[in-house]
Amino acid sequence: MNVTLRQLKVFAAVARHLSFTKAAEELCLTQPAVSMQVKQLEHQLDVSLFEQLGKKIYLTDAGAEVYHYSRQITQQLEELEMVLANLKGLERGKLKISVASTANYFAPTLLGTFCARFPGVTVSLDVTNRETLLRQLIENEVDLVVMGQPPSDMDLEAGAFMENPLVVVAPKDHPLVGEKNIPLKRLEKETFLVREQGSGTRSAMESFFAEQRFEPQITMEMSSNEAIKQAVMADMGLSFLSLHTVGLELRHGLLKRLDVEGTPVMRTWHIVHLQSKVLSPAAEAFRYFVIERGEGLLVEHDTPLLAP
Ligand code: PGA
Repeated sequence: MNVTLRQLKVFAAVARHLSFTKAAEELCLTQPAVSMQVKQLEHQLDVSLFEQLGKKIYLTDAGAEVYHYSRQITQQLEELEMVLANLKGLERGKLKISVASTANYFAPTLLGTFCARFPGVTVSLDVTNRETLLRQLIENEVDLVVMGQPPSDMDLEAGAFMENPLVVVAPKDHPLVGEKNIPLKRLEKETFLVREQGSGTRSAMESFFAEQRFEPQITMEMSSNEAIKQAVMADMGLSFLSLHTVGLELRHGLLKRLDVEGTPVMRTWHIVHLQSKVLSPAAEAFRYFVIERGEGLLVEHDTPLLAP
């Protein structure tokens, strides 16, 4: 048997409409071209597929059988197409992302939900600071990064998805705890534990303090939000951190937020990639997922988004 898929496709259209004219319209062919394909199929199978009664055409018994099998073949082909698409993309894809140290407090929640939805996607997650994130993008080491404000002098595609409130935190027994609208000037004698150069939190803090003409006394610089929190809890000073990093400690009273004038300072989280990068289906799906569902999902998971 030397039947072609094209013959079966054309025949199925005629059988569905019981009309050569409508089948021709659907397939954007001329009517003689449709008739020719059906004739060739009849010749190959050595049966008549249609019979004509008056102006109407009907499927013969053999035609009905061929129609039944042609639909199964088409369905199988569609299934094959889907399996191949999945093999190439989403279901078996790889996703390489890198997030700012501060985004580490919510990125696993996003990834957890995404991976449950697409269990075939293998994820590698790196946590680092803003400067390294940008280098990783330039050197094409990652598909996507989650960071604060992306630089304007690079060709990046950035989707904003959530606010990032930055606040002043203090040890739980600090004398200013509970005071309202504390002017920054009152923190002149305080010591500050700050994030390292290159961190987005650090540069947000520096711009805020510069705007307010405030010069903090910096005692220690640390590259880890966790280390800073421990140091503040150990009474070593105050700090300026994202609310996302201190949710647990504030809830349990281990740290306190100082109600400093001008805070929270609001930054925005972005999911970013190089404009020139062609995203894989897995990376495209994750980007879409974060922009569309990120914030809602994190609210459901109690990630602190607003000052308590
Ligand atoms: P960071 O990034 O963890 O490097 O401070 C946060 C941000 O970019 O806002």
